[in-house]
Amino acid sequence: MNYKKHIQAAQGKLGILIPGLGAVSTTFIAGTLAARKGLGQPIGSITQMGKIRLGKRTENRNPAIHDFVPLASLNDLVFGGWDITPDNAWEAAMNAGVLDHALLADLKEEMETIQPMKAVFDHEFVKNLEGEHIKHEKTKMDSAKALIADIEKFKTENNCSRLVMIWCASTEIYVEQQAIHHDLLLFEKALENNHPAIAPSMMYAYAALKCGVPFVNGAPNLTCDVPAIVDLANELKVPIAGKDFKTGQTLMKTILGPGLKTRLIGIDGWFSTNILGNRDGKVLDDAGSFKTKEVSKLSVLESILEADLYPELYKEMYHKVRINYYPPKGDDKESWDNLDIFGWLGYKMQIKVNFLCKDSILAAPVVLDLALFIDLAHRAQMKGIQEWLSFYFKSPQTLPGLQPMHDIFLQKIKLENTLRHLMGENLINHLGLDYYEEEQ
Ligand SMILES: NC(=O)c1ccc[n+]([C@@H]2O[C@H](COP(=O)([O-])OP(=O)(O)OC[C@H]3O[C@@H](n4cnc5c(N)ncnc54)[C@H](O)[C@@H]3O)[C@@H](O)[C@H]2O)c1
Repeated sequence: MNYKKHIQAAQGKLGILIPGLGAVSTTFIAGTLAARKGLGQPIGSITQMGKIRLGKRTENRNPAIHDFVPLASLNDLVFGGWDITPDNAWEAAMNAGVLDHALLADLKEEMETIQPMKAVFDHEFVKNLEGEHIKHEKTKMDSAKALIADIEKFKTENNCSRLVMIWCASTEIYVEQQAIHHDLLLFEKALENNHPAIAPSMMYAYAALKCGVPFVNGAPNLTCDVPAIVDLANELKVPIAGKDFKTGQTLMKTILGPGLKTRLIGIDGWFSTNILGNRDGKVLDDAGSFKTKEVSKLSVLESILEADLYPELYKEMYHKVRINYYPPKGDDKESWDNLDIFGWLGYKMQIKVNFLCKDSILAAPVVLDLALFIDLAHRAQMKGIQEWLSFYFKSPQTLPGLQPMHDIFLQKIKLENTLRHLMGENLINHLGLDYYEEEQ
């Protein structure tokens, strides 16, 4: 039996601060408000609908996760954010075109009050967008300080007892780690000196941590995935997690990939192509932003298949990912996967997957769960990288040198065992021999 961790109660309001009031975040906010009013069900959310098995299978103990661990209630959530356009959350949701106008009409009053604060934005990092509603500070450190002032003001004005920040803004261009990212002092100097390798998302992460606010990165940007920010999180005892919400095609890959691997079916090639027409698609039409996304998407399969251990099955696999901006699709993304696989004696077979998905509908419950779980982690005095939240990410952040786990089923076991561990319940290893030994 593990000991039960001391977890502070989830008392008072939890403010969820979101850089980027776009398709994902407004679908999340609207859905949460709708669930709160009984206008819709939070489908896909583990914190709202998930059950967890405790003890032996014969005990039949399967409480709801929100009854098992002390999570913030939906009624205690308050939303705020920043965007480069001044549209309020209702206008942004209408523009995103994900949710029905009839549903949004019922939520108009509450969503209109969510006015974005002026963003920290740099066109160099998102080439396909122009910022109009942005801060104009002299240095990147000044920008970070302005964000800190926003965070503090929001907390006071909304009477929040706790905050979390979750990045739902556009994908930034690919940035290689450099010396300034490796050390907190160098990083802070670089903020003062307007170093070009400090992205806006890093300033948001820095500001959040300086305020003791947990930070989650929903995009594939480097952001908090650098030693300077990890050190800051550990030093200030604040949890962080990332990166890149696992939805759509990659979700399918992490469901199919482990299945094929488990049966030791070989793969010659996996070609993935996507068309999407929302603003995210427009941003990813830029080569720099696409490169960031591509790196995040490609790493998934390599880790699941362990080609070094199974060279005859996966070493030669050709893996390609394409994303194309196609405006008529709007937020309804369509993806095609062609898998060339082989089995017994090398005989070849094919699998075709045509997924007509709504990215933001898949992302919204992920945002909700991450906000509630990272707040739980903070109240349980967990700090730094929260690998147990890998379940929700395309590129889970881990300690340097530690292979991330991409298999969604292993990730789920890890998440559930972390919750059991926090609450002093036995971990479940699925051995199950004890049932038979007791019989004899
Ligand atoms: N939709 C999904 O399923 C999914 C999955 C994984 C990751 N993501 C990532 O989540 C992010 C949001 O996706 P989306 O579909 O909502 O995109 P979106 O384009 O609809 O919204 C992004 C918003 O961020 C704003 N923005 C850009 N830079 C900003 C800055 N520096 N500060 C504040 N706001 C800024 C934009 O104006 C826009 O309103 C993207 O990075 C995307 O790659 C989405």
